[in-house]
Amino acid sequence: MGSRDQIDLSKLPKHIAIIMDGNGRWAKEKGKLRVFGHRNGALSVRAVVEGAVELKIGYLTLYTFSLENWNRPKIEVMAIMELIVNTIHREIETFMDKNVRLNAIGDLDLLPNKCYNELTNAMDKTSGNTGLVLTLALSYSSRREILRAVRNIADKVNAGELRTEDIDEEIFEDNLFTKGMPNPELLIRTSGEYRISNYLLWQIAYAELYFTTKLWPDFRKEDFFEAILDYQKRERRFGMTSEQLN
Ligand code: IPE
Ligand code: IPE
Ligand code: MG
Repeated sequence: MGSRDQIDLSKLPKHIAIIMDGNGRWAKEKGKLRVFGHRNGALSVRAVVEGAVELKIGYLTLYTFSLENWNRPKIEVMAIMELIVNTIHREIETFMDKNVRLNAIGDLDLLPNKCYNELTNAMDKTSGNTGLVLTLALSYSSRREILRAVRNIADKVNAGELRTEDIDEEIFEDNLFTKGMPNPELLIRTSGEYRISNYLLWQIAYAELYFTTKLWPDFRKEDFFEAILDYQKRERRFGMTSEQLN
């Protein structure tokens, strides 16, 4: 189990991204409906946010609902949307208390009005907070995000505001939903699935990947710390040799 005292505070990732997976299987194991898993998953979110605040992590980005997730049975989608509304409503005081700024990325206009309003309200209310930036990826597809950036940039070229030869990584990143955020150094996925599922494809180009078979509702602060400890043991070479680094 990861313990907080083992973590080297001088070597923390600035940005951690998580694919919170396994809620449905967790519920099924217990003979319950999938929504029971989602509800318990919300408790893991709380624990991980608490851990990130304790460590003074800059950015935590949680894959909460993918664009592809709209294809799930309507009853599950509705239950998840309601859970998002209730969770934000319940946690907003904690965010204010802990100086957390809530942020969201994705095609937010597809969210039901109630969910959209609760979210944007909470984002407004926490906009002056200067601690952890908690980003929910909602109705999110990385390929869509990249296409949107390409279109924005093409429009600027067409309007004569930008020259093709001046398009570089920085300009490209300025047109992603994650504009202004550092790229995640660590990506965690729970539930023993070893895939990226259309999450932050550009941004994780050099992220360290951490997979655990724990199902998301079982994931707690110690598991989060464990992932950070594992990250700290890795040598990030960025194409260089080990000798060059040492
Ligand atoms: C992750 O858990 C939550 C969402 C995708 C909304 P799942 O609902 O995908 O759970 P499994 O993968 O079916 O167990
Ligand atoms: C990815 O989980 C999306 C979220 C965690 C919100 P899924 O469970 O939807 O991913 P796939 O479809 O199994 O790859
Ligand atoms: Mg899943």
